[in-house]
Order: sequence, then C-alpha cells, then structure tokens
Amino acid sequence: MACRSTLSSFLTLFLFLLLASAPYLVSSARCNKDDKKALLAIKAAFNNAYHFASWTNDTGCCDWYDVDCDPKTGRVTGLSLFQDDFPGTIPDAVGDLPYLENLVFHHLPNLVGSIPPALTKLKNLKYLDISWTNVSGPVPAFLSEITSLTQLDLSFNRLSGSIPASLGDLANLSSIDISRNHLTGPLPPALFQRSSQQGPYLRLSHNNLTGEIPPAFGKLGFDQIDLSRNQFTGDASVLFGRSKPAQQIDLSRNQFAFDLTNVEFPEGLDSVDLNHNRIYGSIPNQITKLANLQFFNVSYNRLCGEIPVGGNMGRFDEYCYLHNKCLCGTPLPPCK
Ligand SMILES: *[C@@H]1O[C@H](CO)[C@@H](O)[C@H](O)[C@H]1NC(C)=O
Ligand SMILES: *[C@@H]1O[C@H](CO)[C@@H](O)[C@H](O)[C@H]1NC(C)=O
Ligand SMILES: *[C@@H]1O[C@H](CO)[C@@H](O)[C@H](O)[C@H]1NC(C)=O
Ligand SMILES: *[C@@H]1O[C@H](CO)[C@@H](O)[C@H](O)[C@H]1NC(C)=O
Ligand SMILES: *[C@@H]1O[C@H](CO)[C@@H](O)[C@H](O)[C@H]1NC(C)=O
Repeated sequence: MACRSTLSSFLTLFLFLLLASAPYLVSSARCNKDDKKALLAIKAAFNNAYHFASWTNDTGCCDWYDVDCDPKTGRVTGLSLFQDDFPGTIPDAVGDLPYLENLVFHHLPNLVGSIPPALTKLKNLKYLDISWTNVSGPVPAFLSEITSLTQLDLSFNRLSGSIPASLGDLANLSSIDISRNHLTGPLPPALFQRSSQQGPYLRLSHNNLTGEIPPAFGKLGFDQIDLSRNQFTGDASVLFGRSKPAQQIDLSRNQFAFDLTNVEFPEGLDSVDLNHNRIYGSIPNQITKLANLQFFNVSYNRLCGEIPVGGNMGRFDEYCYLHNKCLCGTPLPPCK
C-alpha cells in the first residue's frame, strides 16, 4: 500500500516536471528567426566551413553546436567558436545577435583581421573572449560602448598599439587579460576606476608596455596580477598590501625599482615572482607569515640583508635569490 502510493506520487511528480518543463523543451527547439538569420550569415561569412555543419536551416538554431539560448526566451545568449582552423575574419553579423552575453573565438589560428565595430551593437555582452587567434590591429577604443562588459580576454593575438583609456568608462568591467600581444604605451590611470567589483584577474604579460603603475591602482583588488615581461618602471608597491585579495603576483622581467623593505604582502598570497627587476631594500619578515606561499622568486634584483627564516621559507632554493646586491643567510651563504 505504502509502496504504491509512493510510486504514484513519483509518477505525479514526474508528470508535473515534464509539463512544467514543456515550454522550455519547446523553446529550445525553437529559434528566433532574426537570430537564425544572423547565425546563417556568420556561417556564410566563414564560407560554410565544415565547423558549421550542424547549422542547417531546417533545424532550430538553439540545437546547433557552439550556440546557447536562454531557455525561456529562446534568444541566442552564447556563441563559442573554438579549436578549428577555418579561415576568416570576425563577421559583422555577430553584432546582429542582440541578446548575446558570451562571445568566444578561441584557438582559431586562421582568424585574422581586426576587431570589428559591429560588436558595439551587443548591448548585453558580458564576456568577450578573442584569444589564441591571429587577430591584429588595436584594442579598439570603441569597446567602451559595450557597457555591459564584465570580462575581457584578448590574450594570445597580434594586437598592437596601447590600451585605450576609454576602457576605464566600463563600470562593470572586473577583469582583463591582454597578455601575449604586442601592446605598447602606459597603463591608463582611469582603467577600472569606475568599476566597483573586485576582479579575478589583471593579466598583461608578454607585451611591451611601459611607464609606471598609476597610484590609483592601489585601490584595486585582483586575485591574480600578471604584469611580467613588459618594460614597466618605477614603484609597484601599491599593488601589495596586507588585506588585498591577491593570491598570485607576477611582476618578473620588468624594470620596476622600489624599496621592498616596508611592503606588506597580501595574506592569501601563494605565489610572488619579482625576478629580473631593480627592486632594492630587504625582504620583509612578514613573508614568513604567509601560510599559503608556494612560490617566491626575487632573483636578479638589488636586494640586501638577511633572508627571513621560518614559515614556508625553507621551500625556496638559492636560485630564488641569485644575483642580488647583498642578500645573505639560508639558502645563500651566511651573513657576515
Ligand atoms: C530557411 O527557411 C525559411 C523558412 O523556414 C525560408 O524562408 C528561408 O528562405 C530559408 N533560408 C535558406 C537560406 O534556405
Ligand atoms: C598565427 O598564425 C601562424 C601561422 O600563420 C601560426 O603558426 C600561429 O600559431 C598562429 N597564432 C595563433 C595564436 O594561433
Ligand atoms: C552592471 O552590473 C549591475 C549588477 O549586476 C547591473 O544591474 C547593471 O545593469 C550592469 N550595468 C550595465 C551597464 O550592464
Ligand atoms: C618588444 O619590442 C622589441 C624591440 O622593439 C621587439 O623586438 C619585441 O618583439 C617586442 N615584443 C613584443 C611582445 O611585442
Ligand atoms: C627564479 O628566477 C630565475 C631567473 O629567471 C630562474 O633562473 C630560476 O629558475 C627561478 N626559480 C624558480 C624556482 O622558478
């Protein structure tokens, strides 16, 4: 008796769930006709490459590979093209998907040309990822017109020119990755100054960026900061601070010159790489208090004094300290 009633209530629940989800099932098979038109134009712009074989006019575009729809509205909210070698440029038709929130062009070595102004039509776009491609030209100033942007990943391309100051207008931008390009010029002081959120990352490594870290960057909090392999100069101490959220800071291979003596490391830091700079002073004792520290490299700087002992410091060999002015103590020879 008890068994049957449980079974029938399961059936009722099952039927209820089926009915409740019916509109979603219908709408995922459905496809907004304007979205479909834009997607077919994208396919045509890539010469109907085999990658788009599932994009056929007789099926709902929400079922096509690389396309995501909002289950309620059936509008296209995500387009992720990756890992293929079809040639072409970013089609203007991408701008005709007005509900797009995520747009990804990743690992497409034959994607060339520049980033088209048509993207500014995407008023709901939050995540723009154009990475590991051969896209060239500037990081366009017009990206500031996509006011909904929260994360921008333009890493591993052939972008050149400087980082446009207009990106500072983006009030919801919380992270950027423009590493591994050919960028030049300074960091715009206005960058992130209007954004209230703390971001996961600031990654600008492997470019030719110059100038100093704007003092206003002192109030930003990223989990990961990678400015390595540029030509930055001056004081980077504003990026540190005991209560900052940073877990990883990589400033290696620049020309930073500042006194490390009174720098306070973020308490959750697990990796700090400062190698190949012109950093002077001594290594603060507070480094021994960092419970998560797994990587520490200050080689090729101008540091002096005794290497602090304790905490995780025993993990680091002499190669983490080589080529400084007068560092001493374990793992280097004893201080005199
Ligand atoms: C796609 O199908 C619609 C009707 O379902 C039709 O009007 C349109 O011409 C077709 N487009 C192509 C490119 O075949
Ligand atoms: C850019 O194109 C070259 C060949 O033309 C290729 O070797 C390289 O991997 C491409 N870059 C990326 C990031 O895909
Ligand atoms: C910025 O984010 C907030 C909170 O998520 C949201 O309400 C607002 O609409 C966003 N602004 C823009 C321009 O998208
Ligand atoms: C930086 O500039 C040097 C000298 O002009 C050049 O050789 C190098 O390729 C540049 N690096 C990048 C990542 O653009
Ligand atoms: C620290 O940096 C130096 C210089 O680049 C390098 O030779 C050494 O291998 C690095 N040590 C570690 C543990 O990465």
